[in-house]
Amino acid sequence: MARKSVTDLQAMKRRGEPIAMLTAYDYPSARLIDELVDVILVGDSLGMVVLGYDSTLPVTMEDMIHHTKAVVRGSEQAMVVADMPFMSYQVSVEEAMRNAGRLLQEAGATAVKLEGGVRSAETVRRLVEAGVPVMGHIGLTPQSVNALGGYKVQGKTRKEALALLRDAQALQEAGAFSIVLETIPAPLARAITERLDVPTIGIGAGPACGGQVQVFHDLLAYATNFVPKHAKQYVALGDAVRGAVAEYVADVRAGTFPTEQESFAMNEDVLREIMEGVA
Ligand code: KIV
Repeated sequence: MARKSVTDLQAMKRRGEPIAMLTAYDYPSARLIDELVDVILVGDSLGMVVLGYDSTLPVTMEDMIHHTKAVVRGSEQAMVVADMPFMSYQVSVEEAMRNAGRLLQEAGATAVKLEGGVRSAETVRRLVEAGVPVMGHIGLTPQSVNALGGYKVQGKTRKEALALLRDAQALQEAGAFSIVLETIPAPLARAITERLDVPTIGIGAGPACGGQVQVFHDLLAYATNFVPKHAKQYVALGDAVRGAVAEYVADVRAGTFPTEQESFAMNEDVLREIMEGVA
């Protein structure tokens, strides 16, 4: 089965079909969602929801390669986009090329995503020229949390909104095949989406984007510390896991697990012979 490609997403945009993207960070979650979504994002949010850091900044290239490999093994049809972690593309274009190359060559990603608009446009242009499909990411860019002063809605003022519009245009001109708009007002996301030929993918950016992305753990209420306003919880997976584990522990303590059903039998004569020989 062929994976979804950049051209498939462009065709979806032309047909007005919304793109469904969700993060995954490991083999079982990739297996569960592969048939359902168009794009799996191995986001550097893995630093927060899987590795327990309080931001995405500590995530390394080795982390991203390790988790992307697992997602690629667990999926067949979805496009796999891997995030370029903090400082893997900001120092120089050469380093960005080497690191993006590793995500495609070693980890098997279909495309990479990196944060920043005008400031990242030259890097995007060089990557695209080298044959690396790039998804842009503007608005609330979590790798800049210290510069932004927290996880706040972006683009509310005239100056910020104009800068975001320019960022989006610069990324499109540089060759980005799609752009994530994170935590910006819905009317601004609509205006940006209408002005672009490439699809936008929103997270906290309202319904007018060309697609939506969410973090796996937010969507499933799976052991997160904080639920962002933009996330809808479709199932209380964390509660279901805790409930099941509590039942297991109670069974172990009561001696009601395992039963014969979960045990393995053997020929009693063989056992008797062995025990007599040992005695
Ligand atoms: O890292 C991530 O999961 C992301 C999404 C929030 C867009 O970048």
